[in-house]
Amino acid sequence: MQLRGFQFYYPTVLILAVTYILYYSFVIGSGGAEDYESFTRYTARLAFIFFLPVFLIGPLSQIVQSNILSSLRPKRRFIGLTFGAAHFVHLIAILLLHQAKGTWFTLDDTAALIIYSLLVVQVATSNNFSVRKFGKGWKVLHWIAMYALFTGFFITYMGRLQEMGGAVYLILFALTSAAWLFRIYVFIQQRIGKEA
Ligand code: HEM
Repeated sequence: MQLRGFQFYYPTVLILAVTYILYYSFVIGSGGAEDYESFTRYTARLAFIFFLPVFLIGPLSQIVQSNILSSLRPKRRFIGLTFGAAHFVHLIAILLLHQAKGTWFTLDDTAALIIYSLLVVQVATSNNFSVRKFGKGWKVLHWIAMYALFTGFFITYMGRLQEMGGAVYLILFALTSAAWLFRIYVFIQQRIGKEA
């Protein structure tokens, strides 16, 4: 029952947020290619907000005892799939931007496109059948895809902060770094716990 409510709530938040970003970019926008740029930028931010729980619920629930976390942990697959949907909206925005500008992907986009390919693999293998079929390799594959996505956010926000500065990029970069440091902290704690 609880899961059903959650399954309804999470995609609803995503749909409402995308609708707001669409409105904010195109209706309030100036009617030029900048609108597509805003749409691209804000869809990436939205995807990042959906990515943080994917990145943090596992380690958080390992060191913090909380009912909310224990009820969210089994739903990680669903949370990951919702993030996948959010990040595909960024891809749609990119395609719309290319169409508006009359441009296309270049060699510079290779790393980002590889990350998208890993996301496709991650989404396609987020099911019990794939877990059984790939065995231990499944965990490795999902770990690589998750860290590839994390690297995409980390490098983009670090670059933006260096180039543009400002409170927004400072917050986004601080969040990305804090999330990473937290995962490292939990990893070290677990190692110490195992050795003790
Ligand atoms: C080939 C694939 C991709 C292309 C062409 C692309 C293109 C873009 C463009 C045009 C923007 C908006 C630029 C602006 O601010 O005016 C943007 C923003 C961004 N993208 Fe992507 N992107 C790609 C894949 C990715 C991936 C895989 C990630 C993360 C894993 C990512 C994360 C971001 C982030 C974090 C921003 C900045 C949002 C902000 O300013 O707050 N992108 N991207």
